[in-house]
Amino acid sequence: MTDFATACVRAGYEAGKGEPVNAPIVQSTTFRWETTEQVHELFDLDNTEFFYSRIDNPTSNVAERHLSALEGGVGAVMTSSGQAANQFALLNILNTGDHVLCSKALYGGTINLFQNTLGRLGLESTFVDQDSPLDELQKHIRPNTKAVFAESISNPVIKVLDIEKFAQLAHTNHVPLIIDNTFATPYFCRPFEFGADIITHSTTKYLDGQAVHVGGMVIDSGNFDWQVAYEKTGKFAGLIEPDTTYKGMQYVKTFGNQAYSVKMRQQLQRDYGATPAPWSAFLLDLGIKTLHVRMPRHAENALALAQTLQKHEKVQAVHYPALAGDEYYNLAQKYMPKGASGVLAVEIKAQKAGESPRDAAGRFINALKLFNIEVHVADIRSCALHPASSTHRQLTDDELTAAGIAPGLVRLSVGLESARDIVADVEQALNAS
Ligand SMILES: Cc1ncc(COP(=O)(O)O)c(C=O)c1O
Repeated sequence: MTDFATACVRAGYEAGKGEPVNAPIVQSTTFRWETTEQVHELFDLDNTEFFYSRIDNPTSNVAERHLSALEGGVGAVMTSSGQAANQFALLNILNTGDHVLCSKALYGGTINLFQNTLGRLGLESTFVDQDSPLDELQKHIRPNTKAVFAESISNPVIKVLDIEKFAQLAHTNHVPLIIDNTFATPYFCRPFEFGADIITHSTTKYLDGQAVHVGGMVIDSGNFDWQVAYEKTGKFAGLIEPDTTYKGMQYVKTFGNQAYSVKMRQQLQRDYGATPAPWSAFLLDLGIKTLHVRMPRHAENALALAQTLQKHEKVQAVHYPALAGDEYYNLAQKYMPKGASGVLAVEIKAQKAGESPRDAAGRFINALKLFNIEVHVADIRSCALHPASSTHRQLTDDELTAAGIAPGLVRLSVGLESARDIVADVEQALNAS
C-alpha cells in the first residue's frame, strides 16, 4: 500500500473528472434497474451491484474500502455499531452448539453479548486469561470451537494481547483469530501482520474521532483458508457448501478469499439488517482521513499524563502500556511501537482510614473539571469513567477484583486538549479529593 498517512487521506474514493472530491452521501434506499432479468441476477448473486441499502450502499462502501485499506484487508462490511460488528464476526461462522474461545479481558458489552445473548441462542463462550501460556490456553479448545477472539488493547483494563500467541493457538486448531482493534486502531497496531484473520472495530471511537456516529466494521484479511479447514475438520461448511438461498452458490468457490465478507453482507445484512445510515458512513469516512494526525497526539498526551500519575502519592497504580515499567510494555513495544492509544487506567488509593478505594475514585472523578464524565472513550475531548460506580456497579468489590477491575480504577480517555491542561486537571482533582 501507499504510506499509511496517504491511505488515511486518500484511500476508499477517488474523484473522477468533474466529480465531487468528497464521496457523496447516497441517501437512497433503493436503486433503479431496467429489466426484471437484471434483478434476477442480483438475487442470484451473479451481479453484486447495489439494489437495496439494507445490504449495500455506495457511501458505506467508501468507508469499507477506506478502513480495509488501512488494515490491509481484502473485504469489509460496515455495521450499525461495534456490537453488531462483533456479533456478525461470530454469526458468520458459528451456529447453535458452536463454541468461541475468548480472552476475559474484553469490553463488558462484548462479554454480555457473547455470554448472555448469543449464549441464549446456543453459542458457547469460554473466557480465559490471555496471559496464560499457550499450552494452558490449548486446554480450553473444544471439538466445537470455531473461533478465537480477543482485543488488541483491552477495555477497560488496558492489557496488550500477544497476538502471535493467539494466532498460533487459533491456527493449530484450524480456526480463525478475530481481533477487536478498536482501541489501537490501525495507526498503532495492524493485527493482520501478526497472524490475525479477521478484525472488528467499534468505529464509534477513534476512527470517527469526534463522537458523532455509532458504527462498526468487520474486515477480512483473506488469509484464512476455509477450504483447508473444512477438509481437515468439517468446520465452516457455510462457506464451502451450497447456499440454497442463492440457488446453491458456494461462497469460497465463487468469491475466493473474499468469501467471508461477501457471505456476511449477503446473508447477515440481508437477514439481520444491522445497516449503517449513509450519513454515519460519511462521518466515519471523514474521521478516518485525519486518524494519522490525531492518534500520535492522543498517545503523547496519554504518556505525559501516565508519567505524572506514576509519581503521584494518591495513585496506587497506572496502567498504560507505553509507560516504561508497565506490565505490558514489552508486548506494546512489539505490537504497537508508535504508542498505545490515548486510554489509560489509574487506580486511586483510599485517602482516609476506613475509606474504600471505590469511594476515593468516586471523589476523584467528581473533582475533575476538564475531563467530562462519559460512558465513552476515544475522541478529541478528554473523558473519565469509574467502572465500579457505572458500567460494573452491580458487582461487589470482591467480584470486581475477580474480574480484574480494581474498585478504585478509573478509566481516563485522554483527548487532544493541551497536555498541560490535561495533566493540571488530573492533578487538581487528585489534590482536591
Ligand atoms: C473494544 C470495544 N468493542 C466494541 C464496542 C462496542 O461498540 P459500539 O458502542 O459501537 O456498539 C466497544 C464500545 O465501547 C468497545 O470499547
